[in-house]
Amino acid sequence: MKKSSILIAGGGSTYTHGIILMLLDNLHRFPISEIKLYDNDGPRQEIIAKACEIILREQSSGIKFSYTTDPQAAFSGVDFVMAHIRQGKLPMREKDEKIPMKYGCVGQETCGAGGIAYGMRSISGVLELLDYMTEYSPNAWMLNYSNPAAIVAEATRRLRPTARIYHICDMPISIEEAMAKILHYSSAEDLETRYYGLNHFGWWSSVRDKTTGEDLMPKLAEHVRQYGYADEQGEGKEEISWNETFAKARDSFALDPSSFPNTYLQYYLYGDDMVAHTSPDHSRANEVMEGREKFVFDECRKIIAEGSAENTQLKIDEHASYIVDLAQAIAFNTKRRMLLIVPNKGVISNFDHDAMVEVPCLVGSEGVEPLAIGDIPTFQRGLLYQQHAVEKLVVDAWIEKSYQKLWQALTLSKTIPSAKVAKLILDDLIEANKSYWTLN
Ligand code: NAD
Ligand code: G6P
Ligand code: MN
Repeated sequence: MKKSSILIAGGGSTYTHGIILMLLDNLHRFPISEIKLYDNDGPRQEIIAKACEIILREQSSGIKFSYTTDPQAAFSGVDFVMAHIRQGKLPMREKDEKIPMKYGCVGQETCGAGGIAYGMRSISGVLELLDYMTEYSPNAWMLNYSNPAAIVAEATRRLRPTARIYHICDMPISIEEAMAKILHYSSAEDLETRYYGLNHFGWWSSVRDKTTGEDLMPKLAEHVRQYGYADEQGEGKEEISWNETFAKARDSFALDPSSFPNTYLQYYLYGDDMVAHTSPDHSRANEVMEGREKFVFDECRKIIAEGSAENTQLKIDEHASYIVDLAQAIAFNTKRRMLLIVPNKGVISNFDHDAMVEVPCLVGSEGVEPLAIGDIPTFQRGLLYQQHAVEKLVVDAWIEKSYQKLWQALTLSKTIPSAKVAKLILDDLIEANKSYWTLN
């Protein structure tokens, strides 16, 4: 079997070890010759890299391993670039979340004003990675997790239209795993679903038993109506805030019980509840810095100190399964059905041709074939139009360095009540982001 060479861009991410463990667990179906890490923060990456080096050595995988901050060394001779960068890291996420909250608006990593500011930072980072890949490994594919995926995808569609990049998200698959549990299936693999929307802004229009074709929506509705995607105790995820998010899907579902909502719709449909519920002094970024980031870096330091990963609590990360499945489908032309963020081109027939939509696709070696969705209902279509216009305006603003366009984007966001508030938030975001983007 052909062996692939993988570059993980954003090597210092809290998800890097999870991808490596997942790759190691899947070598029988996706063999690998080499793994490299690349990051623009050398000292941060080194902690993750040295621990991963020990993990790889202990599993005697025979995989060549290296890490670097040099783009040429990183991007040369690779088949896949798995990208998950965060320009400005978690301290900038904290600002994305807290600035809108100061004005009583939703403060979230990828939604509303925070997502817009993050988008303005991410575009340049992802384009830079794409250009390195195109220069040093023109036949490679980039599989991009870097957020906010919707804005980044719109930017690469416009600015690098021929680039070999797929944008992905783990949220729908994580919700599908919850659906499978609710329906007493062993995994989401047992379900056949239809989903459509923009990234972090979509709905399931069909959930069926993969083998029998039975429509599972009525049974699922009984549960979601009461508990959302959480279990009957309001639990199911590892963290309280994710349990709350999964439970809150009940309220988004109530608006249209004929389709199942992505959990991220809570920020657009129930922004007031989200604001009331979030502490402006301690946002999700703080939880992640105190939780996942601290845990991962502490564990890596422990592995390095002990020279062994034998006692580590780092474990294989379900988040990674999606990116590994995608790489395997491309490498071996499996035509696996996966949700990807791709140009609409008529897939949703009554929606913009050029929008980047998240829809099921058959994945092969030379591209993907999206499955037709057809017409979507007025409620969803209206929401999608508004959000898509926001995302387009952000990319316009980035290209033109336009204050006016970014003010329009914020004003149009369903999470912001007026142009006045949008301007106040914008002026604060500009100040906070001045080393990443400026406007005229
Ligand atoms: P993190 O801050 O821990 O890691 C990001 C890494 O990227 C850091 O080490 C940073 O130094 C590096 N980096 C930043 N800019 C860079 C650049 N221009 N070139 C090279 N490296 C750069 O972040 P995290 O919490 O691990 O998340 C990583 C990314 O993955 C985020 O964008 C996050 O939103 C995204 N993510 C997406 C999904 C999805 O569903 N699409 C799921 C999970 C995480
Ligand atoms: C989900 C989303 C990602 C997002 C992540 C945030 O996985 O699909 O796009 O980055 O949640 O999780 P966090 O734990 O960092 O808040
Ligand atoms: Mn996502």
